[in-house]
Amino acid sequence: MSVCSSFNALKLHPPKAQCFERLLFTQFITNFQVTSSPIVSFHHLHSSNNLKGNKQKWKMIKASSTSLVEAPKKALFRAKNPRDINVLVVGSTGYIGKFVTKELMKRGFNVIAIARERSGIRGKVGREETLDMLSGASVCFSDVANLDVLEKSLGNLDVRIDVVVSCLASRNGGVKDSWLIDYEATKNSLLAGKKFGAAHFVLLSAICVQKPLLEFQRAKLKFEAELIEEAEKDSGFTYSIVRPTAFFKSLGGQVELVKDGKPYVMFGDGKLCACKPISEQDLASFISDCVLSEDTINQVLPIGGPGQGLTPLEQGEILFKLLGKEPKFLKVPIEIMDFAIGVLDFLVKIFPSLEDAAEFGKIGRYYAAESMLILDPETGEYSSEKTPSYGTDTLEEFFQKVIREGMAGQELGEQTIF
Ligand SMILES: NC(=O)c1ccc[n+]([C@@H]2O[C@H](COP(=O)([O-])OP(=O)(O)OC[C@H]3O[C@@H](n4cnc5c(N)ncnc54)[C@H](OP(=O)(O)O)[C@@H]3O)[C@@H](O)[C@H]2O)c1
Repeated sequence: MSVCSSFNALKLHPPKAQCFERLLFTQFITNFQVTSSPIVSFHHLHSSNNLKGNKQKWKMIKASSTSLVEAPKKALFRAKNPRDINVLVVGSTGYIGKFVTKELMKRGFNVIAIARERSGIRGKVGREETLDMLSGASVCFSDVANLDVLEKSLGNLDVRIDVVVSCLASRNGGVKDSWLIDYEATKNSLLAGKKFGAAHFVLLSAICVQKPLLEFQRAKLKFEAELIEEAEKDSGFTYSIVRPTAFFKSLGGQVELVKDGKPYVMFGDGKLCACKPISEQDLASFISDCVLSEDTINQVLPIGGPGQGLTPLEQGEILFKLLGKEPKFLKVPIEIMDFAIGVLDFLVKIFPSLEDAAEFGKIGRYYAAESMLILDPETGEYSSEKTPSYGTDTLEEFFQKVIREGMAGQELGEQTIF
């Protein structure tokens, strides 16, 4: 996979510049990583400590020997016990995907987790570590970006798939990668899943697609539309589209800075870009509910965490209170970003290779100004009240944890403009 060298200007900063980056893009909700080469080999592997249990499970749920595609009456999977239901998870190694995989296993489903041989941010996680991390699932190393390879991998497993759960997302947020992963690879998972019998598809999308101004949002929306169309064409097939608000990891970037005495930085008056943050575990639980719950069939489901929406100003106040410090805010005019975007848009006309850098600027601007809440298309207003809540984990608890333990496990990725 190509490495976008234009990212380097944003990514390899000395500590001071990193601070500036965080300050400048404080409300940014995406993460970027330059990915490693796609894996073209595929193997059905079990982590050794689960081999026995898995083998027994697989025996029960193997596809009929006559045809893999001849799944039993499709929607019937809902009447089965989770231990007889095969769930294919793509994006199983991501921030949310890991939790979803574990939650599904906890609920007793047979989970087939698709992974790359080098997974995680910047491909830092090797095969053994991936097997360890997803222990209990049947890990299948394959390439979601290549339909033929993915289908062959699933064919080799010789199992029926009942449900596909996609937690795929571009790790670098660039224009081409977004289309490759958020659209194409996700579509491949739908096609391959259906080929092997999938009757339901649960998609992790994002609430921000309500106001699509960015390439990754357009890519996600295109897939959402095709998924809905698929269910309209095929009465035995259903979907649940989950559109969460901000993740905790996207809001923790300033905790350690503020702890070190820096001001809390926000754009405008600090009341732009409110959200109802949701934890990985709560979201994983919500997504797992969608596998069997009849209430979520053929629904687009915006979802946030517990409580009211929080503006950056309120998030900062929570943080200062927890730290027992006098609030100290730095308000940055949003126009600063408009200027930077203008420059990048101009430069991209001369240097097309700056396409992604220009896109990142727009992403930064978007998340600095737009709330991650339900949007009323008539008034253009965001509403905290209309944004459904789920789960129990609060941002305050998350901040407390980061104050104690740091941001380990909450890394945003290689290219963080948050
Ligand atoms: N951040 C937020 O606050 C927020 C809020 C709402 C919604 N969302 C949405 O939530 C979704 C998931 O986010 P996340 O943070 O869990 O994502 P993530 O940690 O970046 O994980 C992305 C997953 O996709 C896989 N992937 C990416 N590129 C791939 C490629 N070329 N080939 C194969 N697999 C590839 C990754 O595999 P590897 O491990 O192999 O790279 C990983 O499993 C995104 O759609 C995002 O827009 C995010």
